[in-house]
Amino acid sequence: MSLNVDFRANGSADSVGVDLSEPTATAKACEIQRVGIPGDSSPRPVPVTHPSSYGLSTQCVHAGEHRQKADGAITTPIHTASTFTFSSTDELIDFVEGRHEREEYGRYGCPNEKSVEAKLAALDRAEDAILYSSGMSALVGLLMTSLGQDDEIVFFDQCYHRSRQFCAQHLARFGVRTIQVPTGDMDAMAAAITDRTKLLVSESPTNPHLTAIDLDAFADIGRRFGVKTLIDATLATPANVRPLDHGIDFVLHSATKYLGGHNDLLAGVLCGRKEDLDPVRAMRGCLGNINSPHNMYLLERGLKTFDLRMQRHNENGMAVAQFLQQHPRVDRVFYLGLPSHPTHAIAAAQMSGFGGLVTFTIKDADWRQTSRVVDATRIARIAPSLGGTESLIEQPYVMSYYHYTADQRRQFGITDNMIRFSCGIENSDDLIADLDQALSA
Ligand SMILES: Cc1ncc(COP(=O)(O)O)c(C=O)c1O
Repeated sequence: MSLNVDFRANGSADSVGVDLSEPTATAKACEIQRVGIPGDSSPRPVPVTHPSSYGLSTQCVHAGEHRQKADGAITTPIHTASTFTFSSTDELIDFVEGRHEREEYGRYGCPNEKSVEAKLAALDRAEDAILYSSGMSALVGLLMTSLGQDDEIVFFDQCYHRSRQFCAQHLARFGVRTIQVPTGDMDAMAAAITDRTKLLVSESPTNPHLTAIDLDAFADIGRRFGVKTLIDATLATPANVRPLDHGIDFVLHSATKYLGGHNDLLAGVLCGRKEDLDPVRAMRGCLGNINSPHNMYLLERGLKTFDLRMQRHNENGMAVAQFLQQHPRVDRVFYLGLPSHPTHAIAAAQMSGFGGLVTFTIKDADWRQTSRVVDATRIARIAPSLGGTESLIEQPYVMSYYHYTADQRRQFGITDNMIRFSCGIENSDDLIADLDQALSA
């Protein structure tokens, strides 16, 4: 299988084939191809990256970037332009007739966004990636492209509450039906499919219950019924699982979380086959939910250390979960790395790490007693979100489900005594000592 990734610098573009076939001895060496850049008679070296042979950190640092950038800068220059000039009408016609790929207008993307898209495509071993201004706008972008009046989507019912809200409240206004089935129940998913079904959607792991979905089985249902599949892998990240390798059609990440990783930006990304994503990209050109070059500079910088950070998030998640599991005040711990998690076996078979998010419940506690534990932590900050360098703690009932009825919360599995802890990259001993004192406060 081969894939084309566009590398752009200085307003010009060149297409570089990225070979995803099994690595060979020569493929392991860092190859430099000499590729002519349109409008530039002197060929210049650009990188050829080999996702299947280079390690994740190497990809994080180098994939998607020009080897030689403007003025020899090692980092991608921030292109602040909202529009891009043509030297002549003939050059414009070349572009309009598709002979010369390049930038045109900021709403269709910018060089900084393109470079990060190529990096993210490499990390997920995808043909293409499209960046959005947030994870939610990535989801909305795909749904608005894929669905029309009287179409249906089927969701597993454990999911980020805003995804559920968008489908139930907003898609419904356009005549789209959303069917929710119990998370992980593949028979229920298959039974819910009709000839109007256009998309099957799940998170893996789910937020906040951390349920792993059997990705092979999920992809298989999609293939059997000819329906596209989407996995929101925000909590797993490409460091821990690559849903496309399991035959899933689209993978979504809120890059606000681990990919950006510093609690300082919002972004979302959709990865998949180029032919599937082309219409989605065209829709993004209408919606305009793109990223500023400055935001993309931050994301590219954050991604350089993504693999290193994920190793620490995975270690901290496991250490904190193991500590909580044996604590007398803790009733239940949801963490895929623990054999006690109902979907541990699925996760162990398809994931290489279990992430930094740990959900747990306090024994015999009402919501107020639970909030006292939250308030007593000294390192973790009380905030929504997850996946950044700073540990965050929240009580889902208060943070996200306060305005839901008790019945709805029960239906979504949100209990009053539940706490969600997003391990940052601090030292696990400190996080554990802090949780220990908070639990005894
Ligand atoms: C699993 C999951 N998907 C999507 C989103 C939405 O991402 P964003 O906040 O970047 O819009 C979130 C946000 O918390 C999430 O947890």
